[in-house]
Amino acid sequence: MTASYPALRLRRTRATAWSRALHRENVLTPAELIWPLFVTEGQGVEEPIPSLPGVSRWSVDGIAARAREAVALGIPCLALFPNTQPEKRSDDGAEALNPDNLMCRAIRAIRNACGDQIGVLTDVALDPYTAHGQDGLLDDAGYVLNDASIEVLVGQSLNQAAAGADIIAPSDMMDGRVGAIRAALESEGHTNIQIMAYAAKYASAFYGPFRDAVGSRGLLKGDKKTYQMDPANAEEALREVALDLAEGADSVMVKPGLPYLDIVRRVKERFEVPVFAYQVSGEYAMIEAAVAAGAGDRDALVLETLLAFRRAGCSGILTYHAPHAARLLHG
Ligand code: PBG
Repeated sequence: MTASYPALRLRRTRATAWSRALHRENVLTPAELIWPLFVTEGQGVEEPIPSLPGVSRWSVDGIAARAREAVALGIPCLALFPNTQPEKRSDDGAEALNPDNLMCRAIRAIRNACGDQIGVLTDVALDPYTAHGQDGLLDDAGYVLNDASIEVLVGQSLNQAAAGADIIAPSDMMDGRVGAIRAALESEGHTNIQIMAYAAKYASAFYGPFRDAVGSRGLLKGDKKTYQMDPANAEEALREVALDLAEGADSVMVKPGLPYLDIVRRVKERFEVPVFAYQVSGEYAMIEAAVAAGAGDRDALVLETLLAFRRAGCSGILTYHAPHAARLLHG
């Protein structure tokens, strides 16, 4: 009797480390990481954020130090978010237009520390500056106005551009803001400033620790469901991406990350453009909570989740684990 054999043994190529390396389809390197950083007032200040264990707000000098650290680790880009002092928050978010606001000072400090060795991505949305914590301007009924908000968002973008931002990243989800920002950048001669559109940004329960970090959690009444996307929708994400690309986005972002990798994959296959994902604060906190509960190994969880973004089609990932991951990847 002839023995029967499996027609193909897929375990063959998995048998040794060198062979697994040879057959690996996707790689993760520090060059695919974008490190989000929170900026606060003062000098020599580091404020740990309890709901984001291991992440701190830094004063501008500390941001410059983090930028040097990122360059040394091979991280190509930082994303900045300000914790604006309460007295500078207003209903119209005017602090977003101040050329000396925290964000602009942080951009200049990074530029002074690192020149063009690192990219600076700046978030465009009014929530760190408004007294009500919404991303745009409100009408009397508390509805977030689209076109009026865009006027301020354009001003915010030009303010960041003048301070030296490399990538403008609108996260506000107003309709038409990418086109308006692109036109304004062009007319001011900022022809090489990129726009990375938060194209498919969902009204998610995973943003809580971020709102602690920028100090908007206590201010926000209600939710952001009239402008951020319904987690039930995928086709609509493709329409959002199509619009942002037509309006002049250089790259698009999906946010949150891990629960939305199906969206990343569909966007990548449909549009064949650079797609980024944001592994958001609640995802980071979930991993840290799992580690604290003894449910998993931090290093392995971090590298596996980040690699999953690459497999789904991401060019890069915004992640609070960026410096830790980069250190692991350097061995
Ligand atoms: C602000 C903004 C948010 C995040 C990035 N930009 C929060 C929100 O929309 O309420 C979330 C990032 C994170 O949770 O890590 N428009």
